[in-house]
Amino acid sequence: MIELKKELFKGRDFITLNAFTAEEIAHMIDVAIALKQDRKNGIPHPVLQGKVLAMIFTKSSTRTRVAFEAGIYQLGGSGMFLSGRDIQLGRGEPIADTARVLSRMVDGIMIRTFSHQEVLDLAQSASIPVINGLSDFLHPTQILADMVTIKEHKGQVEGMKLTYIGDSNNVANSLILGGTKMGMHIVIASPQGYQPVPEILDMAWKNAAVSKGSVMVVEDPVAAAKNADVLYTDVWASMGQEEESEIRKNVFAPYQINDEVLQAAHPEAIVMHCLPAHRGEEITDKVIEGPQSVVFDEAENRLHAHKAIMALVM
Ligand code: CP
Ligand code: NVA
Repeated sequence: MIELKKELFKGRDFITLNAFTAEEIAHMIDVAIALKQDRKNGIPHPVLQGKVLAMIFTKSSTRTRVAFEAGIYQLGGSGMFLSGRDIQLGRGEPIADTARVLSRMVDGIMIRTFSHQEVLDLAQSASIPVINGLSDFLHPTQILADMVTIKEHKGQVEGMKLTYIGDSNNVANSLILGGTKMGMHIVIASPQGYQPVPEILDMAWKNAAVSKGSVMVVEDPVAAAKNADVLYTDVWASMGQEEESEIRKNVFAPYQINDEVLQAAHPEAIVMHCLPAHRGEEITDKVIEGPQSVVFDEAENRLHAHKAIMALVM
């Protein structure tokens, strides 16, 4: 088992990758890869023996839930799934009270919810680490796993050109922040009105100035894909935007990873999608099932990345 630099992480929240240095993110990636290797070799790693993670979900999930729940068991602890509908939070109990109660009973909280402010409020009132399992604004656990996947397939994260095509949503925001922290060249191809907000770009420019990475926002997906090492997309309508689905189908129709976009990228480019995917919308069936797609490695790496986060902060 790799040495865990717990002195740098223990007790910290994992709400945004922007709260961590490039060295800290690199360590989380290395821990994830080491845990993956151990698991493949049948080497147990019960570093969180007896610890309990509470997992609050007010939105659906397959990957995040299973990765955290299986992950905490594999680390020797246990996980508790709390549906937002069933706990008192869903009946109006304040998030600050929920935070204080859980802090007296368990060792960490993962939350997936709508409002990013709710995640911040939970962390503010909790005395134990809070992990953001997706808000409307950010999806940092996804992007940590994505960087593990990029490192495995490309040998490195730094200096890679990643082109994201589609809606500048929570996944795109976290890609921009995490990518620029790690010295990646991030190109976002989104239509007018769906481009990253200034708050994200301001943070990204500051990150890029330190890391020698970059961020660029354009409208043309094919031009954006030119020479990309990584092509990435996500759904056109995120959870909570179901009513906008029809409008978004029209707006985003040109923003699809298909053969034309793939041909513009580097011949050895990998194709990524956080899943769940809508084949025929943001990505074609042919590309997602094709030889350059790494989407199931990406999904698997949620497990290893989430275990790294828990092993370090809890
Ligand atoms: N990518 C992702 O977060 O998947 P789930 O919604 O299934 O957790
Ligand atoms: N942007 C998507 C990601 C799902 C994992 C959503 O928020 O629904």
